[in-house]
Amino acid sequence: MTETFADLNPPPRVLMGPGPVGIDPRVLRAMSMPMLGQFDPAFTAYMNETMELLRQLYRTRNRWSILIDGTARAGAEAILVSVIAPGDKVLVPVFGRFGHLLAEISSRCGADVVTIEREWGTVFTPEEIEAAIRKHRPRVLAIVHGDTSTTMAQPLADIGPICRENDVIAYADATASLGGMEVAIDAWQIDAVSAGLQKCLSGPPGSSPVTFNDRVADLVNRRKHVEAGIRAPGIVEGDGPRIASNYFDLAMLMDYWGESRLNHHTEATSMLYAAREAVRVVLAEGLDACFARHRLASAALTAGLAAMGLELFGDQRHKMPNVTGVIIPPGVTGEAVRATMLDDFGIEIGTSFGPLHGRIWRIGTMGYVCRKENVLHCLAALEAALRRAGFKAHAGAGVDAALAVYHKAGPARR
Ligand SMILES: Cc1ncc(COP(=O)(O)O)c(C=O)c1O
Repeated sequence: MTETFADLNPPPRVLMGPGPVGIDPRVLRAMSMPMLGQFDPAFTAYMNETMELLRQLYRTRNRWSILIDGTARAGAEAILVSVIAPGDKVLVPVFGRFGHLLAEISSRCGADVVTIEREWGTVFTPEEIEAAIRKHRPRVLAIVHGDTSTTMAQPLADIGPICRENDVIAYADATASLGGMEVAIDAWQIDAVSAGLQKCLSGPPGSSPVTFNDRVADLVNRRKHVEAGIRAPGIVEGDGPRIASNYFDLAMLMDYWGESRLNHHTEATSMLYAAREAVRVVLAEGLDACFARHRLASAALTAGLAAMGLELFGDQRHKMPNVTGVIIPPGVTGEAVRATMLDDFGIEIGTSFGPLHGRIWRIGTMGYVCRKENVLHCLAALEAALRRAGFKAHAGAGVDAALAVYHKAGPARR
């Protein structure tokens, strides 16, 4: 007999790890809207609206603010493979797992990759980046904004101008930070940025909002080579080296998202609906209000964790508001606590990678999940799980401390 298995019936979970997080129901509803042909004027209008919404989200005037189909790293790959020509020098400051990812993608693009590293839990000073730029003279800087692996956010406001002065293209991965904290591309003079939907934007993984300025667009267009089967008369090709990926070729993607609407891939219709709605939800709340909600959750959660006798991980001056690293107390098995939280409370918190594996938990308060009741439930569950694991947390102290932070902020604040 051929097995057809049971209906999908995922257990209800509160996803308080570093992403993905629970999807806003308005985004799920948008995803169930009917399919349209990709050149239907109704659909191309949605594409244009999405570009405009992304500009607001990224606080940019960049014309090229589009979606790359795929998870967050698809956006990173599209930018890097389109910008980096084989042999280009790329500087990657690494302060966590995702810096290593950018270095690895860049090297697959044929770059001469130079990394500088910092201990996980810290970030770079602008002087350190500037010194490395002067020493190595890279063509591209690829840097993570918020690295979920360490919970740290690298300040970028001074780094964009340093790159501009030294004629370096600045690319930043804002997967974990976009929608949860300030990402002001134009003000920071960052040339290209990518992100994902599944964190502070409360959407599913599978669409990567990217934005890039004319410096990048011009550079990429100098490498433009259009597929033979769709090449139309009048198309001007570049004389630079052909971009090594067809799917992630930003030159062809600009022709697809721009007025010429030159056929490329079939746009992932439902993911575009999801991205459009996810950004609308954030903008309806207001970017600043949304950031304040994430900051408040972080303040409440960290107060609760400290009151329970737990220690936070990393340089707290640079902690992202949407994810918190907690040091696993000596004698406690981190995975046992995570299992209790999942099995008995339906709450998922994150484990860690690399040098932090088994040393910290990561608790996410991102997007739709970033709400008072989730913070309080998480603290109560963690306290009980810790007690079972032999750690004597002060009974009720975590929830009381978090509640005090929320009450102080006033009744209107979530
Ligand atoms: C900062 C950062 N960059 C990139 C990624 C990779 O994203 P994806 O798994 O969606 O490809 C993640 C995922 O957690 C991330 O946090």
